[in-house]
Amino acid sequence: MAPQPTAQQVIEGQRQDWNRVACGWEKWDRLFDEQMTCLNHRLVADARLRTGIRVLDLGSGTGYPALLAAQTVGTTGSVVGMDLAEQMLAAADRKAKRLGLTNTTFRTGDVTCLPFDANSFDAVTSRFCLMFLPEIPKAVAEIARVLKPGAWVAAAVWSSPDKNPSIGLSMAAIKQVIELPPPDPTAPGIFRLAKPGELADMLQQAGFVDVTDQEFLAEWSYASAEEYYTSLMEIAAPVQNLMAKLTDAQKQDVKQRITQAASNYRRGDRITFPMAVRMVSGRKPL
Ligand SMILES: C[S@@+](CC[C@H](N)C(=O)[O-])C[C@H]1O[C@@H](n2cnc3c(N)ncnc32)[C@H](O)[C@@H]1O
Repeated sequence: MAPQPTAQQVIEGQRQDWNRVACGWEKWDRLFDEQMTCLNHRLVADARLRTGIRVLDLGSGTGYPALLAAQTVGTTGSVVGMDLAEQMLAAADRKAKRLGLTNTTFRTGDVTCLPFDANSFDAVTSRFCLMFLPEIPKAVAEIARVLKPGAWVAAAVWSSPDKNPSIGLSMAAIKQVIELPPPDPTAPGIFRLAKPGELADMLQQAGFVDVTDQEFLAEWSYASAEEYYTSLMEIAAPVQNLMAKLTDAQKQDVKQRITQAASNYRRGDRITFPMAVRMVSGRKPL
């Protein structure tokens, strides 16, 4: 069996992966922004964002939910968005400038070691980042440290692959073509925090109170199976990594299988997938 990568190796791999797909995220920004904006609003509500407060967004990528957080807290508040991948953050920064936001700073770094003072933020948000960390409890402890007493953290992580076929079916198609080792349920990855209660338990163990863990159901849709396939390959770094193991002929085979499977989700003139996201929040005790 191959040795497990160290935490540092995982983090470096993540940095390279997400930098590699940053231009894909910018290219497809409008499609995903329009369809996932409900998640940003949910995070803003769960983290109790309001005018004038200081917010930290972990794994901001190309600016979600940092940009909505910045609009919510207004010019008397501020948002720091952190991410490993400087190219994702460069895209976020361009968007912040286009939106005329002057209260947002993007900073590169590993969210497992936060370079901030204790009790220095009024809220923490995070969308689709925590499951990629090799040491999630360490990051949760850091969140607890930097939040002020009584302040909220709100995070979104993917629920299970059967409820997220737009991601799950690509993995299933690749597995039909090459043999992959059985996934280690504790290894960082898209579905690492899909199990109900898993992230919530970590928050409780770090001392958070009023912890909630709910599955949020939504949909996302594409103009065609081809658009779905192309966007997936250009933004989903973990799927790209699996595709890189295939020969050209196998890639063609996988593409055929993915677009065929996606066609089963045709509704009217679009391909519409269900989406299930775990929304987990908690409050640092007073
Ligand atoms: C799927 S993207 C999500 C980006 C954005 N929050 C969104 O929802 O559109 C995951 C992001 O987490 C970042 N990330 C992964 N591990 C990280 C770590 N240890 N520290 C900081 N950022 C990390 C990646 O660089 C990437 O930008």
